[in-house]
Amino acid sequence: MSLKTNPTCFSKLPLLLFSLLLFSFSTAYALDTSSSRTLTPENIKRVLNEAHSKSKENKDGKNADYIKALADVNPDLFGITIVTTNGNIYEVGDAKSEFSIQSISKVFTAAKAIQQHGAKALQEKVGASATGMPFNSIIAIEHQPKRAANPFVNAGAIASTSLIKAKDGEERWEVIKSNMDDFAGRELEFNEVVYQSEVNDNKRNQAISKLLDAYGRMYADPLETTTIYTKQCSVNVSAHDLAVMGATLANHGVNPLSKKKVIDPQYPKYVLALMATAGLYDGAGDWLYDTGTPAKSGVGGGIVAVVPGKLAIGVFAPPLDSIGNSVKGQLAAT
Ligand code: DON
Repeated sequence: MSLKTNPTCFSKLPLLLFSLLLFSFSTAYALDTSSSRTLTPENIKRVLNEAHSKSKENKDGKNADYIKALADVNPDLFGITIVTTNGNIYEVGDAKSEFSIQSISKVFTAAKAIQQHGAKALQEKVGASATGMPFNSIIAIEHQPKRAANPFVNAGAIASTSLIKAKDGEERWEVIKSNMDDFAGRELEFNEVVYQSEVNDNKRNQAISKLLDAYGRMYADPLETTTIYTKQCSVNVSAHDLAVMGATLANHGVNPLSKKKVIDPQYPKYVLALMATAGLYDGAGDWLYDTGTPAKSGVGGGIVAVVPGKLAIGVFAPPLDSIGNSVKGQLAAT
């Protein structure tokens, strides 16, 4: 994550996809007569293939290496999946390759915390403001009146994990994991190698949890919660899983494949608002400016982007930019 990459090459992959998909949906079936821009399966597949083949040779960025196991992942893996709210699936490349979900897990724990406590409670107990600071900032905790800022920086994610209702830490982990499974519509694997690699070298997140605790902003034991948070980051997903998980948010909380109601229909809009403002950390403003679309990244190389009511896109490509966001997941396909 020490690498710099050209910030001007932000987000054109989803841009290309969204411009086709949004245009196609928003023209409401009739106005557009150009057959290359209507939302047919053929057009979606064509755009996906173009986006994939134009980005796949890009060598910018570098795998995260502050979690040692992530440095060992093949940097050339690259997959994209689209899942629509009516359950159609389109994919290209390494869409079924599994990788650790990392920060994208924060979305689903925040969703569960909102489901359990209500949207107002999450805003008050954790926060819902973009920090403009790096995702593991300690200075941000000192500056922000609510300390954690939002559920997608590490501080807010650890605080959100501590909010999950359970009789003890073991049950809290089970609730978090089964919630992620429900979003994905299958039992996700736990990546023990990634977990061991991070949990034994976790002093910064432990310090964050202790500082929050000192401010009265942790709602369970800080060190135990940090370990549970590290576990949720170590759950394996694929681009396919991310697209299904995102499509569950796009589909008002109902998984479009399993048809299970995962969260109540009034809550996805709050999760999507957090994704829009803080999903790509200090890159969130540029991302939103370029795509207009809520999304969330993780240092494992995943990005999930959601078009509410329509579809979600999952991307996996491990090399990251200096902020910690997948380069190819953001790349231009001009
Ligand atoms: O806590 C950490 O640092 C990682 N487990 C997750 C960070 C992350 O994915 C930030 N992403 N862009």
